Amino acid sequence: MNTTFLQACRGEPVDYTPVWMMRQAGRYLPEYHTVRSKYTFLDMCKTPEAAAEVTIQPVDLIGVDAAILFSDILVIPEAMGAPLEFHENRGPVFPEPVRDQAAVDRLIVPDPEDKLGYVMAAIRLLRKELANKVPLIGFAGAPFTNATYMIEGGSSKNFFLTKKMMYTAPELYGRLLDKITESTILYLKAQAAAGAQALQIFDSWAGVLAPRDFAEFALPYVKRIISALKESGVDVPLIYFANNGATLLEQSKTVGADVLGLDWRINLDEAAKIVGPGIALQGNLDPCALLLPHDKLEERVARILEQGKAADGHIFNLGHGILPEIPPEQAKFMVDAVHRLSRRA
Ligand code: CP3
Repeated sequence: MNTTFLQACRGEPVDYTPVWMMRQAGRYLPEYHTVRSKYTFLDMCKTPEAAAEVTIQPVDLIGVDAAILFSDILVIPEAMGAPLEFHENRGPVFPEPVRDQAAVDRLIVPDPEDKLGYVMAAIRLLRKELANKVPLIGFAGAPFTNATYMIEGGSSKNFFLTKKMMYTAPELYGRLLDKITESTILYLKAQAAAGAQALQIFDSWAGVLAPRDFAEFALPYVKRIISALKESGVDVPLIYFANNGATLLEQSKTVGADVLGLDWRINLDEAAKIVGPGIALQGNLDPCALLLPHDKLEERVARILEQGKAADGHIFNLGHGILPEIPPEQAKFMVDAVHRLSRRA
């Protein structure tokens, strides 16, 4: 069994640096498109056999050291009662955005086995099919990031409506975030119970907040999730990824996570200095750097591995999701380079 990823998360010694890629189960793989052509994106999320199949693809094809469940952060808002649509090539849409008291009151805190049973079924199936080859990572969106989609009605440029609610209706914002937080706690507990061996919280939009607002409107909810999980005895490594969060690290290090994920805008050794001992780091190659010729790409990999030595545990990853345009051979070259260059005697 390859437990290198789990050991690195806990800051334990490893034979080589483990590597996986955010969005590794996705559109850069022709094999993904073959499965995807038979389903809509959401139907694929809700069909455990299909979700399991594309989850395993990068393990077999690219050689990563962990599998991440194929799903989406937005299944939680949907389970809470906000209808969700994915429009081809336009991303997620909430046709009934959550912008007032009545809309917040209508949302439920779903029983995960009832409303999100397909996720737990996929996890159980994956644990069987992976047969301990590599660990399985489960995930959820951070409350702030999920809230932006629910309030804006989809992706956003300047997050005007989200910030408008934060600033002009803070109580309403708080009630919405409380509901998302409670739902996420139950959801992540259920994932761990179903067999997820690590859990990542994606805060993709944290970086649009001023440090002061991150402290008030985003971080406390993530803290609450992590405390609740730890208090209830969930003992899998917890990873917090705040995208574009280099300027928020002083705060993120207090969130209680075992691992902090980093984008490419900060060097790992600098981040390690800020974060201090007891927390592993995950990252942080610019996804576009996968387009570099092999010699230059290898140089980048080597530099990140070197900087990662400053941390109490390093998991190699991209600084954000792999892009659909990336040739799979380049991803494979990167993964092989991480293994080759980091191997201890
Ligand atoms: O990492 C993995 O391989 C696991 C699967 C995964 C997906 N989405 C699959 C997906 C994970 C972990 C996510 C998380 C997610 N989803 C985030 C947080 C991570 C991040 O990237 O910041 C966010 C913000 C979303 C919301 C979302 N889902 C958007 C904005 C989009 C459309 C934009 C895009 O990249 O096309 C999606 C769709 C989506 N989620 C796809 C995949 C493979 C593409 C769907 C397709 O096949 O058409």
